[in-house]
Amino acid sequence: MKIQWYPGHMTKAKRAMQEDIKLVDLIIELLDARAPLSSRNPDIDTLGRGKARLILLNKADLAEEAANQEWTRYFENMGFQVMKIDARSRADLKQIQPVIQKACSEKIERDRRRGILNRPVRAMVAGIPNVGKSTFINSFAGKAAAKTGNRPGVTRGNQWIRLNRQVELLDTPGILWPKFEDERVGTRLAFLGTVNDDILNMDELAAELAAYLLREKPGLLTERYGDFTADGPVPAHEVLTQVARSRSCLKQGGEYDLSKAAKLLVDDFRSGRLGRITLERPTES
Ligand code: G4P
Repeated sequence: MKIQWYPGHMTKAKRAMQEDIKLVDLIIELLDARAPLSSRNPDIDTLGRGKARLILLNKADLAEEAANQEWTRYFENMGFQVMKIDARSRADLKQIQPVIQKACSEKIERDRRRGILNRPVRAMVAGIPNVGKSTFINSFAGKAAAKTGNRPGVTRGNQWIRLNRQVELLDTPGILWPKFEDERVGTRLAFLGTVNDDILNMDELAAELAAYLLREKPGLLTERYGDFTADGPVPAHEVLTQVARSRSCLKQGGEYDLSKAAKLLVDDFRSGRLGRITLERPTES
């Protein structure tokens, strides 16, 4: 699926990112655990040169556990601190503090040698749209974020949220732009809902998703929508008919409403109702 996507906004986002990076010690980079490479923009490595780094595999609750572990090892081997999280879970986020300290150990040690003790680490969150940046900031900062935003006369935007004595977080995340050079990246990001659905042909997207699921996860399809009636190999279009049949998506005349079924299939995939699915594995890359 060929995707063209707002390069204009991205130039602006890149400039903002460059400015913000100057202010921080640590970049907390969010990736979508279901497609960590497709949801990653490697330009961050150049932009963030010299900064401490932490990679969070977010939406790990929607990805396959074995794959989460493979990806954790993959990024650890590249020299990053890594953690898988569900950004909506306060319990998961409680475990981040020691990982932040580890990611910033060089800076903390450098400060210590200079006699600077207990200076908080300044951090920013970065990632492509819809990866969960705002959710993460809100759950991580909790009451602190609310307090900053609600103070009279204080507008939000580029303020430091003091999380505790060790960490201050920039309240606006850095927006990274996806790299669409490989067509598969565009397709995976469209499956995940990163790409604005308004510019997508949902019927086409659902047909591609159906073909993918039929190839890789046929069991999950039958589990949710029932057994296919076709003898022999099931054609992709039959998947949408089956979705329509099992969910009673009907048009007024009684024929199957395949566009409705298409939206349903994509939505079931994105929300995890089809099961935990990881779209790419480190071994393929
Ligand atoms: P962004 O700032 O990077 O653009 O992303 P944002 O936080 O707005 O999150 C995008 C969507 O992803 C939100 O759902 C959010 O709830 C969901 N989300 C974020 N982190 C996680 C996670 O770890 N696991 C799961 N399962 N979902 C996550 P939404 O449908 O757009 O909004 P809402 O219905 O949750 O309000």
